[in-house]
Amino acid sequence: MLDNFNRQINYLRISITDRCNLRCVYCMPEEGIKLVDHSSILSFEEITEFTKTAVRMGIRKVRITGGEPLARRRAVDLVRMLSGIKEIKDLSMTTNAILLTKYAQDLKQAGLMRVNISLDSIDPEKYRTITRGGEIQKVFDGINSAIAAGLSPIKINCVIKKNIDEPDAAAVQKYCDENGLIARFIDEMDIEKGQFGIVHGGSGGDCANCNRLRLTSDGFLKPCLFSDISFNIREMDYASAIKLALDQKPECGLNSYSNKFYNTGG
Ligand code: 5AD
Ligand code: SF4
Repeated sequence: MLDNFNRQINYLRISITDRCNLRCVYCMPEEGIKLVDHSSILSFEEITEFTKTAVRMGIRKVRITGGEPLARRRAVDLVRMLSGIKEIKDLSMTTNAILLTKYAQDLKQAGLMRVNISLDSIDPEKYRTITRGGEIQKVFDGINSAIAAGLSPIKINCVIKKNIDEPDAAAVQKYCDENGLIARFIDEMDIEKGQFGIVHGGSGGDCANCNRLRLTSDGFLKPCLFSDISFNIREMDYASAIKLALDQKPECGLNSYSNKFYNTGG
């Protein structure tokens, strides 16, 4: 499907929870967030039905995000439901990998094709500071489980402050090179201030070529991360929500006060 600026929209990012088992400094306040009420979180059936409609209209690429998607119970079941939609050519997940050792094999078996893993530093103390308590060994173990399960290609998302020449970024690049992983460096963004950086070596942050729609865990379809435009998919039929989002997808985003990464999924 094409939007009003002739962009081919074929990518749906689905946030399945606003909860996370980490508190990255650039993403969440230390005390945590006001969580979406359980009752307003979309069920796996709702997500699957919505995705089927989106696929009928042209979506071919689906990413499951959070918060931390593996923090939602039975996330593997949702993967199995979505992988049953045969037209999806690319089914992936963005995870912090803290729980990946437990789930990598099951995710692969359920039909997940690949994972993107967040890792900003390979130094245990630095990682603990950035994530406010995260244990890096779990991430390394999770990455190795993903490799063993064949969830490849595995991309590593590394948020950087200024440039990719930072020592942490250089060390992440080296770790990736040594382990057959693809490093992607993401400029730290401030959605409220409208500071959206680019993804070095990725497709994010490039409005002219944006191909995405986003579904929040509480059922709002958003045409753009950097805008407050959203449509409640429970208040209209799914096809209408998608048409509205398509029709109102901004040429370029400005800012958003209603969404953060933990509920719109980066
Ligand atoms: N700026 C850039 N990237 C961010 N992420 C979360 N918050 C920000 C931010 N403020 C990234 C995480 C993860 C993905 C889900 O979004 O590092 O890789
Ligand atoms: Fe959790 Fe990801 Fe936000 Fe870190 S960036 S707190 S891992 S959702």
